[in-house]
Amino acid sequence: MQSILQPPQAPHQHGGQLLAASHKYQIPLSQWLDLSTGISPFVYPLPNVPIACWQRLPEINDGLEQAASSYYGSANLLAVSGSQEAIQCLPLIFPKKQKVGILEPAYHSHQQAWAEQGHNVITLTTEQVESQLDCLDILLVVNPRNPSAETLSTQRLEKWHQILQQNNSTLLVDEAFMDATPEQSLICNTPKQGLIVLRSIGKFFGLAGIRLGFVWAEESILEALAKHQDDWSVSHPARWAGKLALQDTDWHAQQRKRLPELAIRLVALLEKYIFTRPLETGGVYFNTTNQHVHHTALFAYFQHPRAKIIHKQIAQQGILTRLFNEESPALRFGLPKDEQQFKRLEKVLEGCTG
Ligand SMILES: Cc1ncc(COP(=O)(O)O)c(C=O)c1O
Repeated sequence: MQSILQPPQAPHQHGGQLLAASHKYQIPLSQWLDLSTGISPFVYPLPNVPIACWQRLPEINDGLEQAASSYYGSANLLAVSGSQEAIQCLPLIFPKKQKVGILEPAYHSHQQAWAEQGHNVITLTTEQVESQLDCLDILLVVNPRNPSAETLSTQRLEKWHQILQQNNSTLLVDEAFMDATPEQSLICNTPKQGLIVLRSIGKFFGLAGIRLGFVWAEESILEALAKHQDDWSVSHPARWAGKLALQDTDWHAQQRKRLPELAIRLVALLEKYIFTRPLETGGVYFNTTNQHVHHTALFAYFQHPRAKIIHKQIAQQGILTRLFNEESPALRFGLPKDEQQFKRLEKVLEGCTG
């Protein structure tokens, strides 16, 4: 019998690897509560896909560009196959050996993509940025930051952009998690020299599977990126779905109200069971003094010396979270979407001893 070739393992894991978790913990797929990503638990309610939609090849100006332009407030956009496509193409359009500063911890694909193309990547903390601005060619900021949830103000980023611009350097901002707080986006009507913003349809809209995102930048950058794209990189069904989702302002308003409410409830739960439960109850007591759980509208994050063990104990009960097992071990939780999911998580956290 012919054996099935296994695809090579990605060097870094993303969240959402439910099949692997199901195999590892021997829990059927249908029984998992997947909190391992920052993808909205509410998926944009698409209508049935018209049958002809599956047959068509993509073409521009089918309404997607117009919908995106009114959603983002600018027409200087390029549709990409998820912001991931832009992350991988951007290092190809800059001269070789750029000095790229990345605010860490941040979504690992950025560092990987720039390093793989031979650029000189340095990682920075927020406090280190200002002393390094003069010697960087590119400053890369994920805002709000996945995974740490740190959010930098537009004023601060605009100031950094101005300083970078004096040396013809570039500020690249990944706003994949910005949609719940559009007022904090750096996108404005007219593009600015040396400023590139990435947006995703995967997170806030819950449509990660359609692979759609946008790059906002000057025309020359968009043209250079487009040359690296496959002609059909964004499929027609993805364009159809994206257009509907971007146009639905009532649904955007509903998301902007309910997501932060869930996030605050999740933070309270994690603070209670991970950080403030006294030791004698068997809680995973760590420190009671400060707020330790940070959040965006789509996920919560905390560092904890026993993150690995907490992750495992929760996974053994069928709840998948995202473990960051680096020098500062940390966990990220996506949002439970309703009472039942919150109750299930609470029960598991209650029994968690770390
Ligand atoms: C910060 C950040 N940017 C970009 C991406 C890529 O997302 P997509 O390609 O679905 O737009 C991710 C995916 O997890 C992410 O976390």
